[in-house]
Amino acid sequence: MAALTPVFLFLLFLSANSDESSSCFSAIPISNSVTALYVFGDSTVDAGNNNDIPNAPRANSLPYGIDFNNTPTGRFTNGKTIADFIAILYNLPLPPPYLSLTEAQRKTARDGINYASAGCGIFPNTKPPEKDCWSLQKQIEEFNRTVQEDLPCMIEDPQELADYLANSIFFISMGANDYLLNFNNHHGPEYFANSLLVQFKCYLQTLYNIGARNLVVNNIGPLGCLPSVINMTGNGQCDEQINQNIMPYNSQLPQTLKNIQDEYPDATLTLANSHDLFQDILADTEKYGFTDVKDPCCGAYNGQLACIPNATPCDNRCQYLFFDEQRYNLHIHWCGGHQRRDIDICFFIDVICLIPCTCLFHQ
Ligand SMILES: *[C@@H]1O[C@H](CO)[C@@H](O)[C@H](O)[C@H]1NC(C)=O
Ligand SMILES: *[C@@H]1O[C@H](CO)[C@@H](O)[C@H](O)[C@H]1NC(C)=O
Repeated sequence: MAALTPVFLFLLFLSANSDESSSCFSAIPISNSVTALYVFGDSTVDAGNNNDIPNAPRANSLPYGIDFNNTPTGRFTNGKTIADFIAILYNLPLPPPYLSLTEAQRKTARDGINYASAGCGIFPNTKPPEKDCWSLQKQIEEFNRTVQEDLPCMIEDPQELADYLANSIFFISMGANDYLLNFNNHHGPEYFANSLLVQFKCYLQTLYNIGARNLVVNNIGPLGCLPSVINMTGNGQCDEQINQNIMPYNSQLPQTLKNIQDEYPDATLTLANSHDLFQDILADTEKYGFTDVKDPCCGAYNGQLACIPNATPCDNRCQYLFFDEQRYNLHIHWCGGHQRRDIDICFFIDVICLIPCTCLFHQ
């Protein structure tokens, strides 16, 4: 059995309390054992790296950030991202975007860093047409540089550094853009999913080899229900073909994670089942307090138009599932932003766990 990891502890705790969501915030354990949070991914978790990547898709003007102290940071949402909520859960500062840090700041950052870049994917060639961003490979290369060149400035002893990394959480939220921007059906969706997972497994192993031990991995939401995709179906309905295409990936991902876990018994791979969360929301909108799960809060009706700078967003942001429309992303606005932290945290718990909570392989 691997060492008891922070994520494991959290879930143990959660399963004892999951019946009453109102108690969930006050009951969050403050864990001092999680040393840092490192984040990789796309626009679901980009916290501003794209602001510093030439010709990258950006969310650096209002109304993005309207519920983040009215400050656009580069996050593709009105408030915080799920990566931010994970940090809050573990009493860590929000991981700063890697590219926002000066050389000196990189050498003193020990609570974690965010390498995510909107638009990119698991395949190195996934990106929006005529735009640039950092693929997962590039993000991992930069993390490797952090481990080789920056962290040793603070943590000289190699064993101490290994322990530090082993007690850190690695959250990877990627794959949607591979489907939205780079999908091909030449050999069928099973084949595509398989190629993507072979590539993904390799990257997760690379993270392990650099020192990561607690890896939390998102699956892919029902992309056929993005506002911009709904707009293109022309009948107000989700594109079920797209939803079908992602299914082989989501159904094989748990086995891929389990295979890695079997190969590296001191690692803990956790699936964050965002797909089932969104499916659940779409199936029972009211239960989650949404009144609109088809239109973006910012952007024209049914989402064909982008959330452009200084556009006026909807007033009732808590009632919209989508903050913007962008076809290649799932920009959930995490109801309520910072003012309603208790609700946000409960939301996050649903994401990180299957519903019901059975997401961890070490049980
Ligand atoms: C990490 O950096 C070291 C030292 O520069 C290098 O030898 C190694 O190949 C790098 N690993 C990855 C995955 O980039
Ligand atoms: C798609 O969006 C455009 C622009 O907002 C809108 O005019 C059009 O009616 C939408 N199409 C459908 C089928 O909803």
